[in-house]
Amino acid sequence: MGSVLICLAALVTVDGLVSSSAAWLATPPPPLPVLPIPSASQLRWQRREIIMFFHFGMNTFTDSEWGTGSEDPSLFRPASLNASQWMDAAQAAGASLAILVAKHHDGFCLWPSAYTAHSVRASPFRGDVVREFTDAARARGIDAGIYLSPWDRHDARYGKETAYNEYYEAQLRELLTGYGSVSEIWFDGAKGKNATNMTYHFSEWFQTVRQLQPSTNIFSDAGPDVRWVGDEKGFAGTTCWSTVNRSMITIGEAGIETYLNQGDPRGTDWVPPECDVSIRPGWFWHRNETAKPLLQLLEIYYNSVGRNCVLLLNAPPNATGLVADADVARLREFRAALATIFNTDLAAGSVARASSDRGPRFEARNVLDGRDDTFWAPTADDGRRNGYWIELRRCSPERAFNVVRIQEHVALGQRVERHQVFVDGVPVANGTTVGHKRLHRLAQPVAGRTVRVWVAAAGRGPPLLSAVGLHLDPFVAAGTV
Ligand SMILES: *[C@@H]1O[C@H](CO)[C@@H](O)[C@H](O)[C@H]1NC(C)=O
Ligand SMILES: *[C@@H]1O[C@H](CO)[C@@H](O)[C@H](O)[C@H]1NC(C)=O
Ligand SMILES: *[C@@H]1O[C@H](CO)[C@@H](O)[C@H](O)[C@H]1NC(C)=O
Ligand SMILES: *[C@@H]1O[C@H](CO)[C@@H](O)[C@H](O)[C@H]1NC(C)=O
Ligand SMILES: *[C@@H]1O[C@H](CO)[C@@H](O)[C@H](O)[C@H]1NC(C)=O
Ligand SMILES: *[C@@H]1O[C@H](CO)[C@@H](O)[C@H](O)[C@H]1NC(C)=O
Ligand SMILES: *[C@@H]1O[C@H](CO)[C@@H](O)[C@H](O)[C@H]1NC(C)=O
Repeated sequence: MGSVLICLAALVTVDGLVSSSAAWLATPPPPLPVLPIPSASQLRWQRREIIMFFHFGMNTFTDSEWGTGSEDPSLFRPASLNASQWMDAAQAAGASLAILVAKHHDGFCLWPSAYTAHSVRASPFRGDVVREFTDAARARGIDAGIYLSPWDRHDARYGKETAYNEYYEAQLRELLTGYGSVSEIWFDGAKGKNATNMTYHFSEWFQTVRQLQPSTNIFSDAGPDVRWVGDEKGFAGTTCWSTVNRSMITIGEAGIETYLNQGDPRGTDWVPPECDVSIRPGWFWHRNETAKPLLQLLEIYYNSVGRNCVLLLNAPPNATGLVADADVARLREFRAALATIFNTDLAAGSVARASSDRGPRFEARNVLDGRDDTFWAPTADDGRRNGYWIELRRCSPERAFNVVRIQEHVALGQRVERHQVFVDGVPVANGTTVGHKRLHRLAQPVAGRTVRVWVAAAGRGPPLLSAVGLHLDPFVAAGTV
């Protein structure tokens, strides 16, 4: 208690000094952005951190992952579908956006599309799952997203370039004009080896999305707004740039996974990665499968959100039309574990100093205020050769931590190329990129008075850090990940 009081007194003193000088010093402007920078929609997306995915459709009733397209619509008969209960799952995970598979590769449409007979309209269910989903999401204050599979194994127009692209465009229009705001839309290049040849008119599709809903984030291997991370494990590269050259990526083409996983420090397009992974082994519900254990979900979180990505977590509703209670419970457990780890910041109350700062509004202490829009900025001349540093002098040096959180103010571009963390002079962690959020798990909990973060950003202007946090993860410490 005594040391906390001393620390608070120190904080007040530092505050007093800064504000008395700020009274007569003009505030310097923020540094120039380093291009490319995110759009407003991309920034909103990045701050979501966790998004839910719901794979539900014909496959749910046929125990498959890829349907053939010849399924009888009468098989689709959820006994008590309740999309509000799906939102219980989304809220359990703390997600602010939920994406629905409106049509998978089997071509069966979960809404009564005017352009095909192969939909809920021909099933005993008769309702409109897209409507129930978007209404349920909106009622909970959750944003809605849509996945519409390009590969369609049912429709006879598939393989006829103009006819199929017209069909796909018409369905995009139905989904983007009939169901309110759609915050993210998913396109992929998944296709069986023997699939009929078909050229998708991605450029036309993307521009149609822009015309109908300009703030929707468009996901595909190549963006334009959000890119695939290159695997379905939910793991980004330890180096992970939000930037790529879109011209180097062909949607659906094999061999680009490493580029997608790591990004490109010289990339000219801001297209941050999304890590899609299912809570169960399959994307669709299967009676024989169960949710991943908590430690595995935490591992996924550290390797996705903790590596500058957004986690897109799938929870498949079952054949009754409900997410299994056990899966909802696991999501709740996951969220509670994240709160246990991250709701206490063991850096709080520290006194911060740095190799330099740009002046009032850009001081080192901004990394401790819990805000994304304030940041520490060093001077332009500092650190070009030897890197920059920021140091926290802790109030309670005896309180051990095993997670270090570093965040960049990416609104002005992603800059950090290398970084290293020292506790009382001893190196405990290091890495390359930081981005929106970088989490380091230490081999074991460490205590100490000073935590210093050293960063290099040679080619990309001075680094701008919005947060440095210290946390104790009791789950990883107790288990073996
Ligand atoms: C649907 O789920 C919601 C949320 O769990 C619940 O409040 C509601 O009672 C359910 N509706 C029906 C008809 O079971
Ligand atoms: C692909 O086509 C070949 C030749 O027709 C066939 O032998 C093979 O089983 C097919 N593979 C799949 C996955 O359908
Ligand atoms: C698809 O088209 C390519 C190039 O035109 C050709 O090489 C390939 O054999 C075709 N595949 C099928 C399944 O028809
Ligand atoms: C991406 O484009 C930039 C600018 O044209 C170029 O300097 C860079 O080398 C490209 N990246 C790759 C991996 O080719
Ligand atoms: C569960 O059943 C499905 C369909 O029969 C099968 O594809 C999948 O591999 C099974 N999963 C496990 C974990 O055994
Ligand atoms: C689906 O999940 C609900 C909630 O756990 C459960 O009551 C129902 O029996 C499940 N349906 C099937 C087919 O397993
Ligand atoms: C960087 O971290 C790795 C793994 O934690 C460690 O083996 C290595 O010694 C560290 N390097 C430096 C320079 O601290």
